[in-house]
Amino acid sequence: MALKITVIGTGYLGATHAAAMAELGFEVLGLDVVPEKVGMLAAGRVPMYEPGLEELLTRHVTGIEGSSGRLRFTTSWDELEEFGGDVHFVCVNTPQKHGEYACDMSYVDAAFASLAPRVKGGALVVGKSTVPVGSADRLARLLAEHAPEGVDLAWNPEFLREGFAVRDTLHPDRIVVGVDCERAEKVLREVYATPIAEGSPFVVTDFPTAELVKTSANSFLATKISFINAMAEVCEAAGGDVVKLAEAIGHDERIGNKFLRAGIGFGGGCLPKDIRAFMARAGELGADQALTFLREVDSINMRRRGHMVELAREAVGGGSFLGTRVAVLGATFKPDSDDVRDSPALNVAGQIHLQGGQVTVYDPKGMANARLVFPTLGYADTALEAVRGADVVLHLTEWREFRELDPAVLGEVASRRILLDGRNALDGTKWREAGWTYRAMGRPRA
Ligand code: UDX
Repeated sequence: MALKITVIGTGYLGATHAAAMAELGFEVLGLDVVPEKVGMLAAGRVPMYEPGLEELLTRHVTGIEGSSGRLRFTTSWDELEEFGGDVHFVCVNTPQKHGEYACDMSYVDAAFASLAPRVKGGALVVGKSTVPVGSADRLARLLAEHAPEGVDLAWNPEFLREGFAVRDTLHPDRIVVGVDCERAEKVLREVYATPIAEGSPFVVTDFPTAELVKTSANSFLATKISFINAMAEVCEAAGGDVVKLAEAIGHDERIGNKFLRAGIGFGGGCLPKDIRAFMARAGELGADQALTFLREVDSINMRRRGHMVELAREAVGGGSFLGTRVAVLGATFKPDSDDVRDSPALNVAGQIHLQGGQVTVYDPKGMANARLVFPTLGYADTALEAVRGADVVLHLTEWREFRELDPAVLGEVASRRILLDGRNALDGTKWREAGWTYRAMGRPRA
């Protein structure tokens, strides 16, 4: 008989994981403490923008015509207990603690406390949340104390990218499982039999290594971005072109050409908080020296936002932003997402607004979330409306829609034709030919 699976916490990670598990043929119950979220998911709707996820949900959620009926959602721990799952995935979030670098484990701890007395004997609990190294050992002890006989723990970090969550979950580039018994490995091989058969590498480790794989992968990615952004700073000082430089070094297979796009830097719900939590945890372990370079990675990244503000100031005459109109294209931290958490784009828009500029933002999917975070910014319904009357246009999130804009049409409505490309993603030649001054980060002015 197919395994019965529960997924605790149905945010980006949990909602996608639950739908993917149903797609793989398992009977799935998703639990979240937020009734509105559960209400939407139970109706086959996704509380955030994630390409392909709604289609996957509606293929499986119970009660939707033509669905497999294998996927249900609830807010009730009693229902979870009655369901009698064989495998329980804990997918709750671990945000940065207020006023500290460390990560807030309260949701993970609460989930384990509620789950432990309700799992059936012999079940497997699998942590997927990003946690400080050492958490799995501690949570295994908690289960030994409060869960029935024979309940094991595994740690199975998640590497999904927003915007590609469905693909990354169904076809992972690797599956990492931290286990302390053979049985846990066997069960997880059964859960992931389909992607394993398709060739996804299955890496078995101990608990601390599995936890570290996740934080070190994100630290490496953040370092790669800050490296190229540091090169952008040097290129600007020396008159070089960081885009050409990235292309050239990327041909070396050992370096690779991915994640070398210079611009206003990284944001989102993962990279910034994960590198900070990693530094905090290393400090607790007495290994803080090993990660001091991440402090530099973080500060190079944060400096990019300030640099973009200065480029904009220069573009409007070099003094104050008072009385100037600034169009901002993009509010989300990356394209194909509606997520504005720690978004560099919104941060830059906010800084200019707070310095007296009249900022008008347009984003294809992030408007509602941006309005919640920054209600005092101006918002327009289209890119064209945002640009109308602008003294300078800032391209801050690389949506495809912005690459397809017609510079001539925008030039008709802008007050001055100055475009600053904060993502090095637009075709500068095309904009210059339409009479725009095009300036990108880390590239010559031309
Ligand atoms: C990241 C990791 O990629 C993923 O494996 C992990 O599970 C969660 O964190 P995500 O937050 O969705 O995923 O975003 P990602 O695609 O990694 O981009 C992060 C940020 O870096 C974005 O703000 C993006 O604009 C920026 N970025 C990315 C660059 O500035 N330059 C690049 O070359 C690549």
